[in-house]
Amino acid sequence: MSALRVARAATGRDLVVKFEGGYHGHADSLLVEAGSGAATLSIPGSAGVAASVAAQTLIATYNDLSSVAALLERYAGMVAAVIVEPIAANMGVVTAAPGFLAGLRELTNQAGALLIFDEVITGFRVAPGGAQELYGVRPDLTVLGKIIGGGLPVGAYGGRADLLDLVAPAGPVYQAGTLSGHPAVMAAGEAALLELTPDVYAGIEARGDRLEEGLRGEGMSVARVGSLLTLFFRGKRPTNFREAKQCDSEAFGQFFRRMRDRGVLLPPSQFEAWFISAAHDDTAIDATLEAARE
Ligand SMILES: Cc1ncc(COP(=O)(O)O)c(C=O)c1O
Repeated sequence: MSALRVARAATGRDLVVKFEGGYHGHADSLLVEAGSGAATLSIPGSAGVAASVAAQTLIATYNDLSSVAALLERYAGMVAAVIVEPIAANMGVVTAAPGFLAGLRELTNQAGALLIFDEVITGFRVAPGGAQELYGVRPDLTVLGKIIGGGLPVGAYGGRADLLDLVAPAGPVYQAGTLSGHPAVMAAGEAALLELTPDVYAGIEARGDRLEEGLRGEGMSVARVGSLLTLFFRGKRPTNFREAKQCDSEAFGQFFRRMRDRGVLLPPSQFEAWFISAAHDDTAIDATLEAARE
């Protein structure tokens, strides 16, 4: 919400492009064709969002640069920003196709719009520098969430200095919050980040790889980047939300309940990612695979 405000202030434009199945929190203008819980419940938008607010949000198709180019052309000079999960993780894990993020960088540059990476899920998770480090594409603004608070509630955005200079008190974009920079949350965040050594990333990668291999099966596919994983009940990994919705949700539900009965609690939706943490040791991975095979 705040990053979009900065983007609108910087460009003097109102419209924002997001992707179908992308989830960026519950700010009004972003609850349009959102993934995550909204997707699970088949809610394309949310009641209570003014039509005039929803109209500020344009919807493109993930991994389809032509859908973005078409919007930027049709609304030339009107789009403030394109906001994207650099690895989509709220329609299940859907990875960016090679060239997709670099293509967004190019298209937004040409259109004079900002590129915003929502790294609420991928930040620090897929690499110390997030997905932007992994894929070598630099956005104008980056959004982060509780990952910088050691799991406690906090949100942040950062990016180009000239953009952040627009934020109060330096500039005219108001920014406030009673919980902003809460000392306990910041201490938890620092403690968590200090634990994230290269060994921790390597261990999670190795166990993630084993989990991915073990889960593969007939009529199913696994998408994984580092500690982010989805087992799709669809033979081929989806590349966008439309394909993700073709998954056999009934089969996922049965699988979820079976795993729960065997003591493995998965995210309760085909569209929510599994997170492998440093606490998931080999025993936990083995137990998960054993339960899945039974
Ligand atoms: C990619 C992404 N962005 C933003 C959010 C929203 O975070 P919050 O609910 O803290 O605003 C989420 C929450 O799941 C998310 O997955």
